[in-house]
Amino acid sequence: MEILGLDIGGSGIKGAIVDTQTGRTLTDRNRIPTPEGADPKDVVKTVEKLVEFFNYQGPVGCGFPAVIQHGVARSAANISEKWIGTNVDKLLSSMLGYPAFTLNDADAAGLAEMKFGAGLEYKKGVVILLTIGTGIGSAIFSDGVLVPNTEFGHLQMKGKDAELRASDAARQSRDLSWKKWAHELNDYLLMMEGLFSPDIFIIGGGVSKKWEKISQYLTIKTNILPAQLMNQAGIVGAAIYAENQLNVSG
Ligand code: BGC
Repeated sequence: MEILGLDIGGSGIKGAIVDTQTGRTLTDRNRIPTPEGADPKDVVKTVEKLVEFFNYQGPVGCGFPAVIQHGVARSAANISEKWIGTNVDKLLSSMLGYPAFTLNDADAAGLAEMKFGAGLEYKKGVVILLTIGTGIGSAIFSDGVLVPNTEFGHLQMKGKDAELRASDAARQSRDLSWKKWAHELNDYLLMMEGLFSPDIFIIGGGVSKKWEKISQYLTIKTNILPAQLMNQAGIVGAAIYAENQLNVSG
């Protein structure tokens, strides 16, 4: 199926039309900066612009940077708190006139990597995907099955939310060199390794493109790979999710 995948993030709202059979994007990725404050009304307007850009009519899948239970946002770390309790599926589908299916952004990236990317070989065992961007998103799979809405970016690390130390936004705001920041990331991964003993970590988000700069400083024993779908994973996963949900609902 061809489905518009959207990835709403703390700093950008991105989209592309995805072939859900192959996991390939059929259009270039388009990105519009997330409006200041990421208020629901402004975000919906931006999504509308993206949909118009693609001249797209049909169901959409949408990755969203919060806990999403059955379409409803339950947290708001890097977006307006007005989102909490909002039914994002309903909000988007009433604007679009087509069904919208929303899930956590890192869960979306995880679905894509498990189906088409670095997770393909890990259908047995435990996979943890971490997206490192404005925040740290997480997705955990056991024998290929996603347990949704883990929020491992908010685990405490040296007295602070881990994402305030080891996200890409933290690297930029603290003006850290790649080396210094990689040490923070390594501390975080050591903690995750100790807690979950996964078979593999997959690292997604913008920093997956800088893998050579980072990987040399990582000392964890667990296998670790950059995401293969790079910054398209969230978009592709959102489209896969929409297709799955359409199949479930008949
Ligand atoms: C949010 C997560 C999200 C992650 C990446 C965190 O701050 O709590 O829900 O997956 O950022 O966007």
